[in-house]
Amino acid sequence: MFASVRVGEVARSAAMVFAKFQDADLPREVLDADVGRVIAAAVQRGEFTGSVGNAVEAFLPAEGRGKATRVIVIGLGKRKSFKAGDLRDAVAAAGRKLAAAKETSVRFHLSPTLDQQKKPVDAKLAGRCAGEAFGLLSWNATAFKGKATDKKERQAITVDAGGGKLSDGFELGLALAESTNFARTLSETPPNIATPDWMAQQAQQMARQHGLEFSVLRGNALVREKLVGHINVGKASENKPCFIRLEYTPRKGRKNGKPVVLIGKTMTYDTGGLSLKINNGMVGMKRDKDGGCAVLGAMHAIATAVKPNVPVVALLCAAENSISEEAYRPDDVIVYRNGVSVEITNTDAEGRLVLADGLCWACEKEDPAAIIDLATLTGGVVVALGSTFCGMFCDDDRLRRSVEEASDRSGERVWQLPMHNEYRELMKSPIADILNSNPNRKAHPIQGAAFLSYFVDGYLENRIPWCHLDIAGVHATESDAGPFVKGPVGWGVRLLSDLLAAW
Ligand code: BES
Ligand code: MN
Ligand code: ZN
Repeated sequence: MFASVRVGEVARSAAMVFAKFQDADLPREVLDADVGRVIAAAVQRGEFTGSVGNAVEAFLPAEGRGKATRVIVIGLGKRKSFKAGDLRDAVAAAGRKLAAAKETSVRFHLSPTLDQQKKPVDAKLAGRCAGEAFGLLSWNATAFKGKATDKKERQAITVDAGGGKLSDGFELGLALAESTNFARTLSETPPNIATPDWMAQQAQQMARQHGLEFSVLRGNALVREKLVGHINVGKASENKPCFIRLEYTPRKGRKNGKPVVLIGKTMTYDTGGLSLKINNGMVGMKRDKDGGCAVLGAMHAIATAVKPNVPVVALLCAAENSISEEAYRPDDVIVYRNGVSVEITNTDAEGRLVLADGLCWACEKEDPAAIIDLATLTGGVVVALGSTFCGMFCDDDRLRRSVEEASDRSGERVWQLPMHNEYRELMKSPIADILNSNPNRKAHPIQGAAFLSYFVDGYLENRIPWCHLDIAGVHATESDAGPFVKGPVGWGVRLLSDLLAAW
């Protein structure tokens, strides 16, 4: 919506944004200002409901012949239920109006209203959420528009976020949004361009730019390292699979500490393989790489904004699940590098097969402090939780609490689903150790997690804290919502950033 957003000084005539709680009068400070009467009249109008996401416009006549100043009042909902995170949606409503009006500068006056809260609002977090809103609004998906579309002109905007912690927060929010937008752009890229190799190139470029270590395994190296999930899932496609690794090393502090390992399912396209997807089930499967996109976005944030005091390793399990005479098939049996054998019952349960390589690798080679994997793994989690919560599986209380705290700050919601030995039993195969999908559709999202648990070394003793996030329901939005437009939302970039920031 905006061509770009920056924090800086704005002219006196800049647009202004105020806020109002549904169940409180406008603050005295606002009513007594020059704009007080204009605002008071504006919030009387029928279109102002005061709920989060609602906004109303008014104009402050200019002295002399200057142009009138645009004033926007955003709703913050009820005081009791208000959270700083609501500002993502509330400020986005103002952002949409400013962009439509082609305003080039704006000043926020949120403090007087935020100060009406009994419990003080965290100003840094409030500013950050506002910054995220503007940054996320700036993303657009016009890269593949051609000659037959008129490109909309977009304006750069300068923001006075209120100074102090609000402005610091706003800058952080912009940075996190930039990383999130990077993930969204990768997600949006069509599968004829975004092949596993292309993902590796993008990772390499980003790593080079921001001082991360980069390496990639393909072809024979995959064979040497027995990454059989990649080899088999990726066999049918001419776009060959690869295993991408990035590493962030802190400048000081725990340089040699154990790393946090982030693993992303990076299926650049999922046809289902020989267990082909039916009807329209295939459309949109370019986004089956969104786990990997989120991990890459998080590494961008970690390198540029978060700079945590702990090493971070990213592993992207990249392949295209296609069909040809080379394809792996139902009834195949493959043996992983940790010795676990898997009977393939359904080639459409491919994500867990590549993630298993990533988990084996992480446990054997990275000496991880913790592992977090993100994957668009199951349709079942979409049925269970819709697009409101991500499905979270984590037996480690401490890691789970950290993830939940990061979720609170980032606004990326997680809901815990259970793990139990009975689910692991469900995955037992008559001919191999386990199968990749039980044909009886019981507990589908949990089957995915149960399968993965066989590749976490010492899982039963909880040796390595591990968290599996099934993002199939939350990685994209079907309609414009808050600061997002229809399409990918980069789910996980901000949650992972917050997780590492607090590590
Ligand atoms: N990539 C899909 C899961 C998915 C579904 C992501 C809808 C986003 C939206 C995954 O590889 C898949 O096909 N899962 C199957 C597994 C089944 C065949 C065992 C599913 O959940 O139906
Ligand atoms: Mn699939
Ligand atoms: Zn898939």
